[in-house]
Amino acid sequence: VEHPHPHRQSWSFAGPFGKFDRAQLQRGYQVYKEVCSACHSMRLVAFRDLEENSGPAFSESQIKALAATFKVKDGPNEAGEMFERPGRPSDYFPSPFPNPQAARAALGAIPPDMSVLAKARDLHSGFPGFVIDAFTQYQEGGPDYIYALLNGYTKPDDPNFNAIFPGQHIAMPPPLSDGLVDYTDGAPKTTPQYAKDVTAFLMWAAEPKLEARKSLGFAVIIYLLVFAGLLYTIKKRLWAKVP
Ligand code: HEM
Repeated sequence: VEHPHPHRQSWSFAGPFGKFDRAQLQRGYQVYKEVCSACHSMRLVAFRDLEENSGPAFSESQIKALAATFKVKDGPNEAGEMFERPGRPSDYFPSPFPNPQAARAALGAIPPDMSVLAKARDLHSGFPGFVIDAFTQYQEGGPDYIYALLNGYTKPDDPNFNAIFPGQHIAMPPPLSDGLVDYTDGAPKTTPQYAKDVTAFLMWAAEPKLEARKSLGFAVIIYLLVFAGLLYTIKKRLWAKVP
């Protein structure tokens, strides 16, 4: 479905039959890992979640390898000390900062945790847009906002200017640039492509059961339609003799 609003994108996961694009989620993970994870945590997501078939669907050995590239805090050990070790599939994504205050001291603002960020933001459509959206079941406001934000650094001489961020002055410097991430599947190495892929990945992180929800939802609607038809005919029969 093409939306009239200039900031709306077409996403594979939109609409009643929407599904995530596995290759896109894997590329999006690569962007998160190589770029965003330097500042943004994603503490509700465990490495093994990335093995899900309705998600990036990495293999078990890929998950073990990618978990091990992160350093995870553990302890106390027998000597009572905390220590760092390579991540395991059951670990959650570690935070790049020990606490929010440290992040604020380093960056001037707190980078929001990315676990549910795609659901926590929205592209504000104003009136009457939001009324229409309620009827068209538009649910991609979060991804559309993040995509637009990542492409919203339109003043090259002012890295804090962002046309999309409310107030238009953002503490996050432009995180993406052409050629920054080395894709191996032939996808274009451009800022819009990185933005699209990482945004899809963040949508999956925020709503990992999206595909299950949509397919169950469709079955439920069919069931209710059949059920309504049955109730109607039964009612007709039961009351047929009443004048
Ligand atoms: C905020 C995405 C990389 C630092 C944000 C926000 C999003 C986002 C969606 C929320 C904006 C809002 O509140 O509406 C991303 C993505 C990244 C990335 C997708 C990777 C491609 C980074 C990096 C840094 C960073 C590398 C640090 C150098 C921040 C900070 C904020 C922020 C400090 C808070 C901004 C403010 O409140 O003014 N980011 N980010 N981000 N990000 Fe990032």
